[in-house]
Amino acid sequence: MDHQNRTAIVTGGSKGIGAASVEVFLREGANVIILDKDQENGRKLEEKGKGKSLFIPCDVSKEQEVKQAVAQGVEQFGQINYLVNNAGIQRYSKVTETTEEEWDLVMNINLKSAFLCAKHAIPHMQKLGKGVVVNVSSVQAMLSQGNVGPYVTSKTAMLGLTRSIAVDYAPQIRCVAVCPGTVDTPMVRWGFSQSPDPEQVYQECVDMHLTKRIAQPIEVGEFIAYLCSDKAAFMTGQAYRIDGGLGVMIPGSKRD
Ligand SMILES: NC(=O)c1ccc[n+]([C@@H]2O[C@H](COP(=O)([O-])OP(=O)(O)OC[C@H]3O[C@@H](n4cnc5c(N)ncnc54)[C@H](O)[C@@H]3O)[C@@H](O)[C@H]2O)c1
Repeated sequence: MDHQNRTAIVTGGSKGIGAASVEVFLREGANVIILDKDQENGRKLEEKGKGKSLFIPCDVSKEQEVKQAVAQGVEQFGQINYLVNNAGIQRYSKVTETTEEEWDLVMNINLKSAFLCAKHAIPHMQKLGKGVVVNVSSVQAMLSQGNVGPYVTSKTAMLGLTRSIAVDYAPQIRCVAVCPGTVDTPMVRWGFSQSPDPEQVYQECVDMHLTKRIAQPIEVGEFIAYLCSDKAAFMTGQAYRIDGGLGVMIPGSKRD
């Protein structure tokens, strides 16, 4: 992957999958603009980038903040080649138990943010005649846990946004979605902690993947950086699962 002289925006880049993507982009020579609410971890990654990364505190669900952050990033690095819409939150509730505020919160952070960042970043890609948008969705766009009504809805809607951007800005701009299985991040560890038996939930997650483990964030970060690279130039409009074979096996299969 050659990302020299390219600039990536990574939302939610302070931790987890976002931070891993930042590390891969930096390793491959790109400049990275990190948009996140978590200032402590964001600033640490900015220092690690030694002038090639810029942390901008930003709530990506707020249009004014996104607009200003994109402008600040362009002022620093001169261009935007890639946008990784990764910021997201998990909340646990069934539809009948979800408040309007909770529904809006999940939709705004998981879905509206991707629309807002695309809205303000794509014009800079158009100036270059080239660009890539990666939307971090989830296998939960295809399968569903219990008690995740708003989350599953937001992740599924991201696939529609992906197709829409891919169609409207082709052939110059590509847009793809990434659908990870369980990844060992602060979000997932927090999710486990919501159960009375976190160790059991962890084991269930391990067992449901054919790989018999959950993913490390860097594995998804590598895939995101690959999708942005010219090596993936024929990939657009689609959702790509990186999920350790989750959901492939049906009960009744013979296993050794
Ligand atoms: N971890 C998994 O198993 C998994 C699986 C599938 C999909 N995903 C998706 O991957 C993405 C990253 O997840 P993660 O597990 O790394 O989560 P994480 O909680 O570890 O990191 C998410 C980052 O997003 C930031 N963020 C949250 N709200 C924000 C806002 N309004 N503005 C700016 N930044 C904000 C957080 O501060 C944090 O740094 C999410 O969209 C998540 O839904 C995660």
